[in-house]
Amino acid sequence: MSRSRKKVKKEEFEPHILVFCCNWCSYAGADLAGVSRFQYPPNIRIIRVMCSGRVDPSFVLKALKNGADGVLVSGCHIGDCHYITGNEYTQERFERLHNILIKQLGVDPKRVRLEWVSASEGKRFAEVITEFTNQIKELGPFRHYKSIEDNS
Ligand code: FES
Repeated sequence: MSRSRKKVKKEEFEPHILVFCCNWCSYAGADLAGVSRFQYPPNIRIIRVMCSGRVDPSFVLKALKNGADGVLVSGCHIGDCHYITGNEYTQERFERLHNILIKQLGVDPKRVRLEWVSASEGKRFAEVITEFTNQIKELGPFRHYKSIEDNS
């Protein structure tokens, strides 16, 4: 996802967004969105993981450091995780990650989001991606990668 960091006019800005989807719910939800032809912006690249709990916070920081303007982690709804409590760990980690982003790195926490999307929520997946993409467009290109580099 590495790319040139040259200045881009806000109206021309097309964000690069990385989405981690758990295999059992969110990835199936993304698939359903595609099969159902629900439209959403083409700004995302999906990485499928077996459970949202597999997403180490360092993956998120590495994505931002390497050119992502936003990162979304998506998994099963609480109580539906196929590994019982994987998404509960994800939620706890995310709270800690947000504290790190705000307090230590000065990154706008709106660039990193956690959403639960089930396999039957293709429409919701498309809505989440559309809304998050618009939010990242509002924020503009991510330029604080240097603070992440300095702290890693
Ligand atoms: S299997 Fe989906 S969040 Fe754990």
